[in-house]
Amino acid sequence: MSKRLYIETVGCQMNMLDSELVVAALRKEGYELVDAPGKADTILFNTCSVRQHAEDKIYSALGRLKHAKRHNPDKVIGVLGCMAQKDQELIFKRAPYVDLVVGPGQLHQVPEMIESARRNGGQQLAVSLGRKDGSRLEIAESFESYDPLREAEMRPSPYQAYVRIMIGCDKFCTYCIVPMVRGPEQSRPPEQIVRESRKLADEGCREITLLGQTVNSYKHRAGDRTTRLSDLLAMLQDIDGIDRLRFVTNFPNDMTDDLLFAVRDLPKVMPYLHVPAQSGSNRILDRMKRLYTVEQYRDMMARIRAIVPEASVTSDFIVGFCGETEEDFEQTVDLVREQRFKNSYIFKYSERPGTKAPALFPDDVPDDIKRRRNNDLLAVQNAISEELNQPLIGRVVDVLVEGPSKRAERQTHDDHAYVGHEHGAHEHRHALQLTGRTPCDRIVVFDGNPRQIGRIVRIRIYDASAFTLFGAVVTEHVGPEVFQLSLKG
Ligand code: 5AD
Ligand code: SF4
Repeated sequence: MSKRLYIETVGCQMNMLDSELVVAALRKEGYELVDAPGKADTILFNTCSVRQHAEDKIYSALGRLKHAKRHNPDKVIGVLGCMAQKDQELIFKRAPYVDLVVGPGQLHQVPEMIESARRNGGQQLAVSLGRKDGSRLEIAESFESYDPLREAEMRPSPYQAYVRIMIGCDKFCTYCIVPMVRGPEQSRPPEQIVRESRKLADEGCREITLLGQTVNSYKHRAGDRTTRLSDLLAMLQDIDGIDRLRFVTNFPNDMTDDLLFAVRDLPKVMPYLHVPAQSGSNRILDRMKRLYTVEQYRDMMARIRAIVPEASVTSDFIVGFCGETEEDFEQTVDLVREQRFKNSYIFKYSERPGTKAPALFPDDVPDDIKRRRNNDLLAVQNAISEELNQPLIGRVVDVLVEGPSKRAERQTHDDHAYVGHEHGAHEHRHALQLTGRTPCDRIVVFDGNPRQIGRIVRIRIYDASAFTLFGAVVTEHVGPEVFQLSLKG
């Protein structure tokens, strides 16, 4: 019996990591990955519930599989992740040909469930407890932190990996479904995290991004020893082979000085901080139950700028939250103008059943206004991103090379189509457009050699747009002056 797996992943980095781990477990069972649902006998969707749009996309992808299943009843179709935990049996109702529904706290069961779906047929559901379905401990225990095997092919690149340091969230922002679908906040033991990171380093990984919904709330207690994120970073700093450490996503109130000192003092910790503000209006922050005021957010930013002045800071914003007036929105624009984030992710508010907001406030900002505010805020942010990139022109930056740029990938693909066989494409290989990132997480493209992939290369920047820096490799013989310039970026 052939075992061909197709997996589609939407949502955040946590989901990308979950998919990597599911694929690794299935490979051990003899599965191979294929790149289209038509070639697969097992089709999995790892889903997201943060916005309605992400769910709609999955339901329509499921709709397209209806016929596939009719033609081939042996195909196993599974829905994993946040939408599985949120909608549960509803998924079987809306798409009766789905075989498995598996929440993010039950992913260890996937191989066994596929096996039994194939053997016995019948629909199978594995989800964790809801946030009101037991004591905190019982609920927490029903969410298993799933961190077994790794699978390099599923990573952003073989030189970069995500490592989960905590699961769940206890903040309960009123718009957010995450605490409901990912369960209570639980930090993993530091020894486990260090062991996993060391293994990744041995396999050639050079950059580790630590993941948590509120990553800087990480706290692990064992006896009378407490490990904070700053302590964990100090432990990971000692791993040979790892050159870069990052961590996402930060909660503003937990951005303590010890963590900022760690970012400043530990050379492997990159000067990059993602700290979502969500809004610049106190009235809206209060309605969102973000637990800080805009003044407190500003104070936190001032501490970041004072302690790690070279750090790039990025943010998330929701526009059109319940009751957001033009004046509230203008305060958000002011915050973006004043704080000059490297970039911001901007979302139109999407009401989520199961969160607190629907019971408290009507979703009363019309969609066209949400869209206009989204575009306006994005325009302000993009102009800032472009301005912030300009001073980098002429400077030399360290770039961890991730692989061919999108353009180069397209080109190689076109060459294949045009020339029709392998060596046509290979002739282009000596000068390939490559892409990578600076310590501050800026994307750089440059013409390089495939041998440079996975290495840290020094690049002189000659042009910059809002989203990309363009550069050229600095030749081997560099003077001390260049060396100095490369320290930041
Ligand atoms: N509607 C729109 N955006 C949301 N986010 C979280 N919940 C919602 C929602 N209901 C955004 C927040 C968060 C990011 C990951 O998604 O900005 O930081
Ligand atoms: Fe959602 Fe708020 Fe938790 Fe972030 S901190 S995951 S926005 S509830």
